[in-house]
Amino acid sequence: MAKITASVFTSHVPAIGAAMDLGKTKEDYWKPLFAGYDFSKQWMKDNPPDVIILVFNDHATAFSLDMIPTFAIGTAPAYQPADEGWGPRPVPVVKGHPELASHIAHSVIQQDFDLTIVNKMDVDHGLTVPLSLMCGELDPVKGAWPCPVIPFAVNVVQYPVPSGQRCFNLGQAIRKAVESFDEDLNVHIWGTGGMSHQLQGARAGLINREWDNAWLDQLINDPVACAQTPHINYVREAGSEGIELVMWLIARGAMSDVNDGKLTGPAPKLLHRFYHVPASNTAVGHVILENSQFTV
Ligand code: DHB
Ligand code: FE
Repeated sequence: MAKITASVFTSHVPAIGAAMDLGKTKEDYWKPLFAGYDFSKQWMKDNPPDVIILVFNDHATAFSLDMIPTFAIGTAPAYQPADEGWGPRPVPVVKGHPELASHIAHSVIQQDFDLTIVNKMDVDHGLTVPLSLMCGELDPVKGAWPCPVIPFAVNVVQYPVPSGQRCFNLGQAIRKAVESFDEDLNVHIWGTGGMSHQLQGARAGLINREWDNAWLDQLINDPVACAQTPHINYVREAGSEGIELVMWLIARGAMSDVNDGKLTGPAPKLLHRFYHVPASNTAVGHVILENSQFTV
């Protein structure tokens, strides 16, 4: 059977992708940010997953105000890096896993979550920047991401957005779906976006280190309480784009210490935690959790 062995949490910032694509990672501004991912890149090499379920948000690239799915799962065989205005990033095409994605769609919809099925989608920085941070630079033609990826898009761009609680519940449904897939697969689930940032309006540039770190403590140690954070708290405390953090609760809800909405199993192992300000306008947070039964 397929198993979720680990969850990865990381901010996405388009400028991080540009810094990698333009060879600026050794510059003073960027060095401390990329140093926070050295452990992660080695860990990915040492523990390559068979599939990544990558929870991210589209930034009006594949979707627009014409159509706003709250939750959308990619069931396609491949996804092209999007052109966000400066040409597509020079990174490899993202291969999908249609069989597992279709199985998850079936199971999660039968568990009463409404998913939009997406058979064609270009993927923007929300998906490619976390992959680049975790996998490093790759040749766009000769290189390849280490495994297939199932893009799982969440609307956090246009109100109304889903609550953290619903995202947490959805993570539990995704884990059940994965565990009912009849093939031995080592699956990662990644929650991306955040942390505090606001790109527009009077509070543009807002960063809230104290709130971010308290939220991270709770995400790791008491996700049941973290899931109850009302959407307005994200916006007030972490800025208008801080709401991206609800996506991290999908990945946290899929870990095996969470059962029927409660913490009942052994806590996952915290393999890595990193926090850095600034990257462009954003506070960057990054955590790796491993399910304890997979720790040797
Ligand atoms: C920035 C951050 C984001 O999450 C995003 O989607 C776009 C820009 C930034 O900090 O520049
Ligand atoms: Fe974003």
